[in-house]
Amino acid sequence: MKIPYAEPFKTKMIENIRLSTKDERQSWIQKAKYNLFNLHSDQVFIDLLTDSGTGAMSDRQWGALMTGDESYAGSSSFFKLKEIIKELTGFDYFLPTHQGRAAENVLFSAIIKEGDMIPGNAHFDTTKGHIEFRKAHAIDCTEKKAYDTESLEPFKGNLDLELLKNVFKENSPEKIPVIIVTLTCNTIGGQPVSMNNLKKVYHLAKKHNTRVFFDSARFAENAYFIKEREEGYQNKTIKEIVKEMFSYADGMTMSSKKDGIVNIGGFIAFKEKDWFEKATVFNIMFEGFITYGGMAGRDMNALAQGLYEVTEYDYLKSRISQVAYLGEKLKEYGIPIQKPYGGHAIFVNASKFLKQIPKEEFPAQTLAIELYLEAGVRAVEIGAIMADRDPETKENRYPKLEMVRLAIPRRVYSNNHMDVVAAALSNIYERREKLTRGVSIIKEAPILRHFTVEIKRLH
Ligand code: F0G
Repeated sequence: MKIPYAEPFKTKMIENIRLSTKDERQSWIQKAKYNLFNLHSDQVFIDLLTDSGTGAMSDRQWGALMTGDESYAGSSSFFKLKEIIKELTGFDYFLPTHQGRAAENVLFSAIIKEGDMIPGNAHFDTTKGHIEFRKAHAIDCTEKKAYDTESLEPFKGNLDLELLKNVFKENSPEKIPVIIVTLTCNTIGGQPVSMNNLKKVYHLAKKHNTRVFFDSARFAENAYFIKEREEGYQNKTIKEIVKEMFSYADGMTMSSKKDGIVNIGGFIAFKEKDWFEKATVFNIMFEGFITYGGMAGRDMNALAQGLYEVTEYDYLKSRISQVAYLGEKLKEYGIPIQKPYGGHAIFVNASKFLKQIPKEEFPAQTLAIELYLEAGVRAVEIGAIMADRDPETKENRYPKLEMVRLAIPRRVYSNNHMDVVAAALSNIYERREKLTRGVSIIKEAPILRHFTVEIKRLH
């Protein structure tokens, strides 16, 4: 018999969780104004809200915490982190920040002006928020196939080079300081970008004398998909693939809360000194001195160790296999999901799941609420609420995909938990026709509204 696959780690410490009753959940979600971000964590049984900062650190990372150097300037933890960043990416310059959006804030303060055009592949919401806050424009150049959830295209995160060329045709080069490539592309389902696409985007950027930065939150998962799916990479190590990926970038922003496997942290890294120097001024103002930038020395130590671990093939295999396990279950139950399965999450196609609910009644948020009520599973809407209103017309923006994301924290849940999630969704799917009305918004913020929105259910 073939020996089945198992995780390359075992559990040393546990945290208890409890399944509540449906009545309890009814009352909690009502008090939370039907916004799942407002729930207290002990009101949630399985928390798939995000894979960000929710992972389990290894014993080596916990050990590294104890040897953190808390010196204000010149901390040895900073240099340890600098070393692994250089080893993985080849970048010589780096600035720590307290998380990914802080990295965006610092970098964009240095390089983006009003009226700029920032092309990319479905920019993440904080990235777009930071671009639009500066009255610049995030131009989505994602391949069209990404928006067909049934397409089995292996690299749905790719940028469409024709769309990208058009941005250069229609705008003068000074208006395009940078192209942002998100690895993996979170918004459209944790879908990877191929090495070939990265190479082409980089060459196009160089032709137009602009730069490429990677939003690298899930860079290691992207490298795993390249190894598994792209010709010529099967015999390369993850670290070799990562190094080649970053050779096609001028720098990166990083949310270490994902592929750093730490609970907080981020950084910016640069190939060239000029932008590093510009960004340094903002880092000192917003984050902290350049050798800690919003991070404790111990956290930089744990991150350095996390970056070694996340680029291990066995770790990545167990991670991506768990996501695929959930995907397979949902497929078996006939639930419409983004295919192929992504790196950090399964995305349920809510407009197909709840066909009868019009987009104006936010089907993805409706489904996320139902899932919580069904089994205490917390997911997140990646749809029209998250897309915010158009900053100029103030109309709701309806993205091409209206999804519920089931994001799986790293090294936290077992496949039994995945079975619960799948069964809960299956129950809702069986009674989906009874769900005839969605939700409406009572109160919202002008930007990044999904975090604080207040909602009511329509009956
Ligand atoms: N870029 C991407 C692709 C992200 O997914 C995130 C965060 C950020 C940047 C911002 O980083 O949270 O450290 O400030 N994504 C989380 C999520 C919040 O749930 O997907 P941050």
